[in-house]
Amino acid sequence: MDIKSAEFVISNTNVDKCPKDLIPEYAFIGRSNVGKSSLINMLVQRKSLAKTSGKPGKTQLINHFKINNSWFLVDLPGYGYAKVSKSVKSKFQKFIVEYFEKRKQLVSAFVLIDVRHSPQKVDVEFMQWLGEHGIPFSIIFTKADKLKPGAIKRNAENYLQKLTEDAWEEAPNHFITSSSSGAGRDDVLNYIENINNE
Ligand code: GTP
Ligand code: MG
Repeated sequence: MDIKSAEFVISNTNVDKCPKDLIPEYAFIGRSNVGKSSLINMLVQRKSLAKTSGKPGKTQLINHFKINNSWFLVDLPGYGYAKVSKSVKSKFQKFIVEYFEKRKQLVSAFVLIDVRHSPQKVDVEFMQWLGEHGIPFSIIFTKADKLKPGAIKRNAENYLQKLTEDAWEEAPNHFITSSSSGAGRDDVLNYIENINNE
């Protein structure tokens, strides 16, 4: 898919104030610093449409970007800093939970995982919570430029294998990407295009 336009629309913490357009929407979620904002920039080939930083916690709001005047990419704040808590509700910021619970336009979430990591509790819990709420999602492994091809394959396979042992009957759909090299760009955009055309 060609990206002809990508424009920032609005930032907020209140899902009721998100754009009213009834067009397909895809949201990027995951631990702080995993590369959500960088991936959005890579997909739309704009250096700093979404704000990025080497320090975790850069994105603090729900950010809507309208693509090709016909669908949204949504950059969300990261999670993973709460120390001890019992429920997803208290571990993930309230407005993020509300976003997923209320946003009818959301077609699919992308849960971003650093390809170097093994499954961490907070990510697995978040994916389980999405599953329980009937919210479709894919995994996007990020920062593939940090590993050699053999290690990428091994890590991703191990990750998906562990997920199916612990939580899922079938491994979720997944992508392998690098915002530095552009790897995985066509895969993610084709996936979105296919859904948009359904
Ligand atoms: P928060 O908004 O804080 O939740 O973080 P984020 O998930 O949006 O991460 P962000 O895109 O701001 O990137 C965090 C850091 O990782 C930055 O220093 C990026 O340059 C770096 N980074 C992101 N993607 C990649 C990648 O694919 N490869 C490499 N090598 N670095 C990356
Ligand atoms: Mg960010």
